[in-house]
Amino acid sequence: MSEEYVLQLQHIRKEYPGVVALKDVTLELKKGEILALIGENGAGKSTLIKCCSGAVIPTSGKIIVNGKEFTSMTPQLAAENGIAIIYQEFNNVKELSAAENLFLGRPIRKGIVVDKKAMEEEAAKAFEQLRIKIDPKALMKNLTVGYQQMVEIAKAIQQNAKILIMDEPSAPLTSAEVESMFMVVERLRKEGISIIYISHRLEEIYRLSDRILVMRDGEYVKTLITKDSEVQELIKLMVGRELTETYPPRGDCIKKDEVMLELKDVTGNGDKNINLKLHKGEILGLGGLVGAGRTELAEMIFGAAAKESGQIIFRGKEINPKSPREAIDLGIALVPEDRKRHGAMLGISIKNNINMPIYERNSTLSVINSKQEMEIAEKYRDNMAIKTPSLHQLVKNLSGGNQQKVILGRWLAADSELIIFDEPTRGIDIGAKYEIYKLMNDLVEKEGKALLMISSEMEELMGMSDRIMVLAEGEMTGELEKDEFSQETIMAYASAANIEEG
Ligand SMILES: Nc1ncnc2c1ncn2[C@@H]1O[C@H](COP(=O)(O)OP(=O)(O)OP(=O)(O)O)[C@@H](O)[C@H]1O
Ligand SMILES: [Mg+2]
Repeated sequence: MSEEYVLQLQHIRKEYPGVVALKDVTLELKKGEILALIGENGAGKSTLIKCCSGAVIPTSGKIIVNGKEFTSMTPQLAAENGIAIIYQEFNNVKELSAAENLFLGRPIRKGIVVDKKAMEEEAAKAFEQLRIKIDPKALMKNLTVGYQQMVEIAKAIQQNAKILIMDEPSAPLTSAEVESMFMVVERLRKEGISIIYISHRLEEIYRLSDRILVMRDGEYVKTLITKDSEVQELIKLMVGRELTETYPPRGDCIKKDEVMLELKDVTGNGDKNINLKLHKGEILGLGGLVGAGRTELAEMIFGAAAKESGQIIFRGKEINPKSPREAIDLGIALVPEDRKRHGAMLGISIKNNINMPIYERNSTLSVINSKQEMEIAEKYRDNMAIKTPSLHQLVKNLSGGNQQKVILGRWLAADSELIIFDEPTRGIDIGAKYEIYKLMNDLVEKEGKALLMISSEMEELMGMSDRIMVLAEGEMTGELEKDEFSQETIMAYASAANIEEG
């Protein structure tokens, strides 16, 4: 009785055709606490929190906000009761300013005209309150993802939200942006705002949260006090089994005398004089800070950006792909970082998404063997544990992480010789990560492919690469063999360009 809960979700159930997304889930949020919500891809985290905004109407159960009881919410009820959600993919209007986005749908008016100046002043106040530097007049499209998210948070605060729900807020951010987001979140907690924080990154959960609620397969598993819990225990509760090793072992499969890809003094797209060699059967990691020019390099190899000078030699021949289409035909794949934007065809089925490159390749032959199609889709569903009742399910009905797995599967089904992975496991849960690592191992070990892997996760970079090359400000600053891997050395190279100048 003495506990003060600002939000209670009681016995929530949500059914979709063929899926029970939530079964009897109960969550209680205390005033001023950060409650972490964790669980594997498809566990039901996003569905649960969407019940708080009215984006999802529960099949049964109760929602109690500050003692007031509801069977379901609407966006308006949520706002009136001080609930704001920062969604996994936020929906701002890129062509409008930060201030206009902050007041989207409820502009300040002077008579009948929209009062831009008043909105800009109010926005400036809201940003100042969060101690973030954003020009209220700046167009959304010119802000980094981190700042776009800050606008969303400022919007919640400006609307006087007392309960802030954040669905994987760190996933699209750079590490520096994550730091500023944490500072804002911690400040909000001090001001008495209660926060539900969803993330797959356990180190964040430990740093931020007071308590942790674990879900598995649509069910409530347990709530723990963060400081009394242990990582291994959490993982076991989430995954339902012990996960002892983080990186699956890989045999020595590098073909030292078969160079798959060679770059000679490649310059362009913001990069300068890049030289590298990647062998058959090898995973080469590309390390560096965000903005170091790694994605830019991948784009040149993949024909998505123009090279100014230098040579790209692929399987012994110089290539100059003018488009991704050309690169794909040559046998190069790029699994992009921003999979939402570049990848999933949300309105079509999992099976068709995964088979897309095969359809494209066979576009002249109209016969597609549907048994084979199903087998390919099944293979990737099993390999990556894509959680779905059916491969005919539309991708838009999958959880965020499972959508990513579909896109990954699609690129793998393309059967390319060189696969570039840009942040392959972002937003993917711990168990599935392991499966993806195993798949990467198989690609080099059993199929003799070559992989170029961009990763900002230091552990992943060191755990999966055979060699690591580090970029800083568009230049290659270091190369490390496996026995030289260390976080300190990589960080030193990653900031090398700055040090030299300083
Ligand atoms: N509109 C829908 N139609 C059918 N099934 C759905 C729909 N929305 C969600 N689901 C299913 O509900 C389950 C829970 O999905 P949810 O998005 O809540 O997972 P999540 O825990 O947020 O996962 P992630 O970590 O991948 O974001 C999934 O199996 C998903 O496929
Ligand atoms: Mg989700």
